[in-house]
Amino acid sequence: MANPIKAVIPAAGLGTRFLPATKAMPKEMLPVVDKPAIQYVVEEAVAAGIDDILVIIGRNKNALANHFDRVTELEHTLEQKGDHSKLSRVTATSSLADIHFVRQGDPRGLGHAVLRARKHVGNETFAVMLGDDLIDARDPLLSRMIDVSTQRAATVVALMEVDPSQIHLYGCADVDATDETDVVTIKGLVEKPSAEEAPSNLAIIGRYVLRPEIFDVLETTPPGKGGEIQLTDALEVLAADAEIAGPVLGVVFSGRRYDTGDRLDYLKSSIQLALDREDLGPDLAAWIKEIAPTI
Ligand code: G1P
Repeated sequence: MANPIKAVIPAAGLGTRFLPATKAMPKEMLPVVDKPAIQYVVEEAVAAGIDDILVIIGRNKNALANHFDRVTELEHTLEQKGDHSKLSRVTATSSLADIHFVRQGDPRGLGHAVLRARKHVGNETFAVMLGDDLIDARDPLLSRMIDVSTQRAATVVALMEVDPSQIHLYGCADVDATDETDVVTIKGLVEKPSAEEAPSNLAIIGRYVLRPEIFDVLETTPPGKGGEIQLTDALEVLAADAEIAGPVLGVVFSGRRYDTGDRLDYLKSSIQLALDREDLGPDLAAWIKEIAPTI
């Protein structure tokens, strides 16, 4: 059944870790096997029943907008050639969902990007999905988060255990157990703590189900880590006072996640996803085995 909530995908980052590839192209358009990273995220939203998606864009907006638009000349050429398999791959991207775009303007952080969605989202619960984290379609996370949010009238953040040496790359949650094994109550949050300061090894991965009260909090959230308006800081305000918007809960994910945020993880994710593909996996696996002893 279609879920009426909307999804917001912030895609206005500068992508500096991938320069020069991202000089004229948003990092969300980097291909992972044969689809841009953002398409996996849109497909994940659609699989969770979401059909209205707002993408917050920075510079180089055109590539993103064009990707989800129709390209009639290409469709026509493929149709004339009778290449229906490629044709269906092209048309699928333009009919996935109702996709809207809004510019972030000044890049002032993730919290600021989410605030740009206020008008489109209105007074409703909504999902935020970050393109650096890809969640395997076989391990549905977002629909679980939406269910938990609905059942418990809560804000829900996706968490995953990481090695303590990696926690400084993430928002980190201080939690208490609940009566459900994959759900925790979030007592506090800290953005990118050192291993010593971190209250746990539970990292925020880029999926959130937020209630509209977050917008008022974001309006008054001062710049935090890195001088940016942090979504984590606004969530910390909600976690400290359940009167504002109900509890803040975490869904602890133990499925397959692919990090495309830096170059090495991006390469590993591309290889893992290609190995899983019927059309590419067997040949790629054979080649990896062949070259592995020579490395
Ligand atoms: C953002 C959030 C951080 C979260 C991470 C997940 O950081 O600020 O709390 O853990 O996404 O990918 P970024 O990776 O954009 O620096």
